Amino acid sequence: MPFVKRALLGVLGAIVLVLAGSYLFRVEAIARLVGTAEEPGQRAAVEQTAQDSRESFRSEVAALSASDGAPHAPQVPLDANGYFQPPEPDEIPDGPFGESIRRGREIFLNPAANATDYVGNSMACANCHLDAGRRANAAPMWAASVRYPTYRGKNEMINTMEDRVKGCFTYSMNAPASPAGGPPPSGDQIYKDLESYFYWLAKGAPQGVTLPGQGYPVPDEPAQGYDRARGLKVFEENCAVCHGDDGHGRQDVNGRYVFPPLWGPDAYNWGAGMHRVNTAAGFIYANMPLGKPYSLSPQEAWDVAAYINSHPRPSDPRQPGQMSVQEAHDAFHGKHKGYYNEEVDGRVIGEGVEAEPTGTPAATGTVTPEPAALR
Ligand code: HEC
Ligand code: HEC
Repeated sequence: MPFVKRALLGVLGAIVLVLAGSYLFRVEAIARLVGTAEEPGQRAAVEQTAQDSRESFRSEVAALSASDGAPHAPQVPLDANGYFQPPEPDEIPDGPFGESIRRGREIFLNPAANATDYVGNSMACANCHLDAGRRANAAPMWAASVRYPTYRGKNEMINTMEDRVKGCFTYSMNAPASPAGGPPPSGDQIYKDLESYFYWLAKGAPQGVTLPGQGYPVPDEPAQGYDRARGLKVFEENCAVCHGDDGHGRQDVNGRYVFPPLWGPDAYNWGAGMHRVNTAAGFIYANMPLGKPYSLSPQEAWDVAAYINSHPRPSDPRQPGQMSVQEAHDAFHGKHKGYYNEEVDGRVIGEGVEAEPTGTPAATGTVTPEPAALR
């Protein structure tokens, strides 16, 4: 008996070692992959420009408040590429407003843990709005903040920031499959905290304009159009290493997503903006593979966007029980680029798969380096 026990313990120990080893290997592999973006010297220069531009913005604001109030605005702080430079973490104010900003940031990075009741998949806001919503051309929140309220064709009404965020909960975060069965109710503190965070990110940006770097820069549809068969090749060569051969993402030993899913029961649903081939092509072109932006040609970006958006995912919340895929296509998808309502590999795209939220709330896949001050 003692021998059996010892043997069992030995086997168990070996399993633990292998799992821990593979986890560490993966974390290091990510760091290597992600670290390829810039040379260390270059990165320091970029960071210096960012800090300098915020610093001079702050001293201009201070000088203006001390002056006679003559109407002129401080210079908009810009980064080395000419995009708006959002504030550094040490610009978060003290007190209740600062606390709200920090909570908003936490929700944005990890909604499954910090807005658990309203999340029906394993995605985080920051999976699609990179670098905690700071990165230009990854639909940054500083550019979003100065654009609302505005009219949206999607729901044919004036949308406040809260309405817009509600949309990303409903579709990108698949809220219908969440514990609450829908997005946070109007007026919820979650919206207030997210809006505080976005407003703070936009400190020093002009209001009511479309800033360079807003949204995703969609390259023109190539002459050859888009094709999922060509996209499969792009996927295998550039994406599967992180997002998995089956596109379902990769989890660590604790079930936390290290790389978010691109399709399947845990991904964004058929109503999400990312399901449009053009929108996904723009996101991918400027942001993927992670750490190598703009390395794909526009043709490759369109093809791989078509590939990932020709796989099953949870259905469009406007459709189940209310209308058929055909009717949803005519009502909502007719003008979009993609395969919705078309037959691919023997199934109609848009039919929807049962959502499978992980249940474990720490599901963010973000590997965005955290600013040191917030770590
Ligand atoms: C699956 C990817 C994905 C996830 C996850 C996601 N979004 Fe989005 N979000 C998008 C897309 C796509 C757009 C539309 C961008 C465009 O059309 O250029 C968008 C747009 C937005 C906008 C408006 C941007 C603008 O410039 O007008 C806001 C605000 C926003 N999202 C907030 C959120 C928040 C908050 C969360 C988390 C609760 C979230 N998003 C999660 C994909 C995502
Ligand atoms: C080095 C690893 C890596 C590679 C390679 C990579 N991605 Fe990603 N991808 C990520 C990570 C990590 C995120 C989430 C970003 C974050 O949270 O900061 C992401 C996010 C995404 C998203 C938005 C979130 C989602 O899950 O829907 C899409 C779409 C995407 N990647 C597509 C691609 C495509 C297409 C390729 C190949 C051209 C690719 N990625 C290559 C790591 C990678």
